[in-house]
Amino acid sequence: MGKDVIIACDFDSAEKTFAFLDKFEGKKPFVKIGMELYYAEGPSIVREIKRRGHKIFLDLKLHDIPNTVKKGMAVLSRLDVDMTNLHASGTKNMMKAAIEGLTREDGSRPILIAVTQLTSTDQESMENDLLIKAPIDEVVMHYASCAKEAGLDGVVCSPLEAGKVHDRCGNGFVTVTPGVRFADGDVGDQKRVMTPAEAKKIGSDYIVVGRPITAADDPVAAYDRCCREFID
Ligand code: C5P
Repeated sequence: MGKDVIIACDFDSAEKTFAFLDKFEGKKPFVKIGMELYYAEGPSIVREIKRRGHKIFLDLKLHDIPNTVKKGMAVLSRLDVDMTNLHASGTKNMMKAAIEGLTREDGSRPILIAVTQLTSTDQESMENDLLIKAPIDEVVMHYASCAKEAGLDGVVCSPLEAGKVHDRCGNGFVTVTPGVRFADGDVGDQKRVMTPAEAKKIGSDYIVVGRPITAADDPVAAYDRCCREFID
């Protein structure tokens, strides 16, 4: 699995996104489009970023009845994204339906990964609000196993969980990890963070980096630094 740095383009308009991407000139970083940008601009933003030659992780975290997810995924597949995701809590049937929808006529499909428990969910809220009583680490690993059994390619997880996910599901099972910060940078609202070099050491396949690049004085230099620490 190719290691790469994915830039979280958390902007609320196409204008801001392209002003940012234009700074990269010849480079074509892998970009993540999340709910904010997708809901602001719709599928045209995906087509335009793709036309410019970037790989795209469309982070919309689908979660609905299997038939609806299957049909939604079929549309995303036609948009030619490279990676997309869903909530593992939608169950294995939903995940299997998603793969069916995502698979193109020629058998190819985008990489499909699952969100296990959101990193904003802690033991207390999981027990009280979701009535799940098992330890959260166990729940995360169980959801990762279910995703693997359903045929998905990997999970989104904290860099701290990436090693354990590989131990449980194999090194070929992709780990995509947000919560990355430079050793000398601001942590912001992320709680459990790792540097790109540490994420590399622990075996993350892709790191998702937002503000350390998008809010940097020199975003291209920050991106290059991430690539040097994580890939080289
Ligand atoms: O700016 P920052 O580097 O914190 O951005 C991280 C990106 O990864 C954001 O788009 C955020 O929504 C996403 N993400 C996350 N934690 C998760 C899942 C997604 O930070 N558990």
